[in-house]
Amino acid sequence: MTLNEKAITGLDAQTVLQPFKRLRRTRMTEQFRSMVRETELSKNDFIYPLFVVPGKSIKKEVSSMPGVFQMSIDTIVRECAEVKAMGIPGVILFGIPEEKDDVGSGAYDELGIVQQTVRAVKKEIPELVLITDVCLCEYTSHGHCGIVRGNEIVNDESVELLAKEALTHVQAGADMVAPSDMFDGRVRAIRGVLDENGFTNIPIMSYAAKYASGFYGPFREAAESAPKFGDRRSHQMDPANVQEALREVEEDIKEGADIVMVKPAMPYLDVLYRVKERFGLPTAAYNVSGEYSMVKAAAKMGWIDGERVAIELLTGIKRAGADLILTYFAKEAASYIDRHR
Ligand code: PBG
Repeated sequence: MTLNEKAITGLDAQTVLQPFKRLRRTRMTEQFRSMVRETELSKNDFIYPLFVVPGKSIKKEVSSMPGVFQMSIDTIVRECAEVKAMGIPGVILFGIPEEKDDVGSGAYDELGIVQQTVRAVKKEIPELVLITDVCLCEYTSHGHCGIVRGNEIVNDESVELLAKEALTHVQAGADMVAPSDMFDGRVRAIRGVLDENGFTNIPIMSYAAKYASGFYGPFREAAESAPKFGDRRSHQMDPANVQEALREVEEDIKEGADIVMVKPAMPYLDVLYRVKERFGLPTAAYNVSGEYSMVKAAAKMGWIDGERVAIELLTGIKRAGADLILTYFAKEAASYIDRHR
């Protein structure tokens, strides 16, 4: 330091070399860290996905998703009791029917697998928030989310069936429906049908910005819903687009969505952030199967600490703006929260 500099700053050399501002001060102890922590995961943030299959006493692990199982109705009822007892407020149900056909009849059958499961779970654990995924892909023989004509997945006819499906779920006792197809106008159609039938208080959580993603691979094994030909790019979004995501979300809100979802989560945190900032609606993020499986696989190899990474992942999703997180980690994260609070 020159004499001139000392004259200007009024500080001696030693003081200048020592930082005045020390951001580490509030990081030095766990007590301080927890006092200044901005984002805290809560069990109330989680929705746990479940896959129901026909049969009895079935609990079959999905090979690409360690810790995730296809379960029969009786097993699901027990699972739901456990989930509720752990303090997780809600589950989302996916059904795998006995038989599939080209119009996905099992999806809107009053005695379909999801409808039966909803009745059974509601009877035993009425306080658990029961959400149903509304789509045709698990029920169609071709694995597409709607009716196929030639090489087009048709919109309006499919939307009618989705509305029918949603109604049967709600009639069975579902607390909320979640259309995951990405066809145009489905939220309006579902809202209309529910209202006409007196279900004006049942909310819709729309998969509003759902991308055509490679991260759904393991789910398609779990839900046995991989398309037999083609792909989902004519309805799900291009991963490159964010302005379009905002238009999709805006449209779903206009049509009556109560909660909007961004899916997947990890590679789309910018989308999630903008959706929450722009619309301020309750916003959900789906931490999808591929995100889960990557963590599980790397942890199994001993390359990462699986629990630590899972918690970091969920915290990042919440920090980006999610009020709700649909995640296969829900039970593990709930147990982590119990052990650390
Ligand atoms: C469609 C649906 C999918 C997922 C949820 N709902 C699959 C798809 O669009 O192909 C994916 C969830 C996940 O990967 O965890 N019914």
